[in-house]
Amino acid sequence: MANEVYHPDPSMKPTPYIKSMKEYEKMYKRSIESPEEFWEDIAKQFYWETPFTNKFCSYNFDVTKGPISIKWMEGATTNICYNLLDKNVRNGMGEKIAFYWEGNDPEDYSRLTYKKLLIQVCKFANVLKSKGVNKGDRVAIYMPMILETVIVMLACTRIGAVHSVVFAGFSSDSLAERLLDAKSKVLVTSDGVWRGEKLLCLKEICDAAMERSKKFGHEVESCIVVKHLPRLNASQSRDGEGKENDEKSPEKRKAFDYQVPWDEDRDAWWDDEMEDASSSCYPVWVGAEDPLFLLYTSGSTGKPKGVLHTTAGYLLYAATTFKYVFDYHPGDVYWCTADVGWITGHTYVVYGPLANGATSVLFEGVPFHPHNGRYWEVIQKFKVNQFYTAPTAIRSLMKFGDVPVKKFDLSSLKVLGSVGEPINSEAWLWYYNVIGSGKCSIVDTFWQTETGGHVTFPFFGVLPVLLDENGKEIQGPGEGYLVFRRPWPGIMRTIFGNHERFETTYFKKFPGFYTSGDGARRDEEGYLWITGRMDDMLNVSGHLLSTAEVEGALAEHGAVVEVAVVARPHPVKGECLHCFITTKDGVKFTPKLSDELRRRVREKIGPFAAPECIQYAPSLPKTRSGKIVRRVLKKIAQNDRNLGDISTLADESIIEILFANLPVQD
Ligand code: PRX
Repeated sequence: MANEVYHPDPSMKPTPYIKSMKEYEKMYKRSIESPEEFWEDIAKQFYWETPFTNKFCSYNFDVTKGPISIKWMEGATTNICYNLLDKNVRNGMGEKIAFYWEGNDPEDYSRLTYKKLLIQVCKFANVLKSKGVNKGDRVAIYMPMILETVIVMLACTRIGAVHSVVFAGFSSDSLAERLLDAKSKVLVTSDGVWRGEKLLCLKEICDAAMERSKKFGHEVESCIVVKHLPRLNASQSRDGEGKENDEKSPEKRKAFDYQVPWDEDRDAWWDDEMEDASSSCYPVWVGAEDPLFLLYTSGSTGKPKGVLHTTAGYLLYAATTFKYVFDYHPGDVYWCTADVGWITGHTYVVYGPLANGATSVLFEGVPFHPHNGRYWEVIQKFKVNQFYTAPTAIRSLMKFGDVPVKKFDLSSLKVLGSVGEPINSEAWLWYYNVIGSGKCSIVDTFWQTETGGHVTFPFFGVLPVLLDENGKEIQGPGEGYLVFRRPWPGIMRTIFGNHERFETTYFKKFPGFYTSGDGARRDEEGYLWITGRMDDMLNVSGHLLSTAEVEGALAEHGAVVEVAVVARPHPVKGECLHCFITTKDGVKFTPKLSDELRRRVREKIGPFAAPECIQYAPSLPKTRSGKIVRRVLKKIAQNDRNLGDISTLADESIIEILFANLPVQD
């Protein structure tokens, strides 16, 4: 496929913002040669309470010359919420739909206009104020994909508070770690949520997390809880129609029996708090470089990093990438399936679409419930024009063939997006031919929590470079480390509370560059192909994990003496975890122990991190100095005997034993 070129269908209307490659090149050139002018023009579309006072952009990307610093529009003041909501309402878009909400149950759906969203946001901003939240305070959000989640995020920005969204699939330990690190004053959650056929009791998880956080020295002052379950218990649509639910599956019984744990001094119901809250809340003007949000991402040491994004640059970048990459035109309906708990949800469910006055779909459910054509049904229902999802989802839906797709009318689609991991040819072609009927453009968007928004093609203002191991630039075709020479407005500014770790992680390896951690190959035509992570990070279903955090969770088990975790390719998930476990003397490796270990990873990190394979290893391949040779383990996990040089191993005999014990793989 790499040799085939698929051109956008000329019949697609309306005409795109960027009409030709030539036009892209012209705009790109300007963004590189005159970045300040380029972004200043874009900034004019937004409201600034006061203009910038210093240079439009100033930065130091070279650790050898001093601390790393990145500043865009320093001195300017603004409010993101004002730009996303008030500005659009003032421009006559009050009645325009900001979100179509589609629940887990197809009968559960609603919509929210820009005006109504603004009212709800103001009310909740006042609730936050009543809980003592001030500018700069952190508010943690552990929520399902519901409208209230967006309301909380924007309410934070209205008063200058910093949101820290934690994906509601993380375990209580992971949530506790994030509450503690951010010192979040308030936590907003819901009683629970149905994900497909499964019930998640979120408030229970939050209680365990708040307790743990308190034990380690940080007490969350208030917890606000959205009552989300009752209407789902009765399986009712919002207009009150629907059937009483008398089925008694174990999960449904769990829902009926679920008593939401409660602390009278700390907890409050959303509805009670919102009832008397005023619907007017003057925005707090914040500095261009004031923090907007924290979002934790895995770090190679095992401790997650609180990636910090700031106000002005992130706004410019989210808005501009959204507009051009998805070619969003007024009147279009856009749908990004990512959970708001990840960066894709931040930039392309919330900030990018609203900054463009867009109408989006917010989907709570899963692609397989109540049937395998759910995504396609939702596209038909809302006449979605731009659809953005991950290769894992595409691969898992491909398995069911074309029949579930053909049942629905997908003719509204114009642009398809892919994000989170490299997309394989087979999945790309199915996406293109079956979902896009051979007419839609596919935008493969490489980016990271750290980059704030898309950075490939390259996008405007982005200057990618390939370096070899010695830091020498690779010109022309070749493969190497993907680094960036200068900042674009949406790049992260620091790791919360640890600027030194920020510098070490991203700027020390190749001074003068931001190191992405990914490798890339440049082909004959100059296109960049992402080859995957070059560090100890794993990408399971588009979720980034570090080997260290999974190893840490496993090593805590009393039966384990040593552990090594590697990634191996997986037909649906992209990569999956293969864990090698050495047990303590006298402890037998049994299926029960294997289950316990798998459960431990789910509990410590979250279900998405559950290892595919746990293999017993009497010992691990090591160098004479005792370093585990992961390169060899990776090959064993893949049943690949091209081991390369193994002369440095202290004991080669273990290799054959590990190959012989390799569990059967699908
Ligand atoms: O390895 C790259 C992969 O996902 C990593 C970033 O993960 P995260 O910060 O969780 O953000 C995910 C969503 C932006 C990258 O370092 N990655 C992301 N998008 C792509 C990708 N790999 C290949 N192609 C992509 N389009």
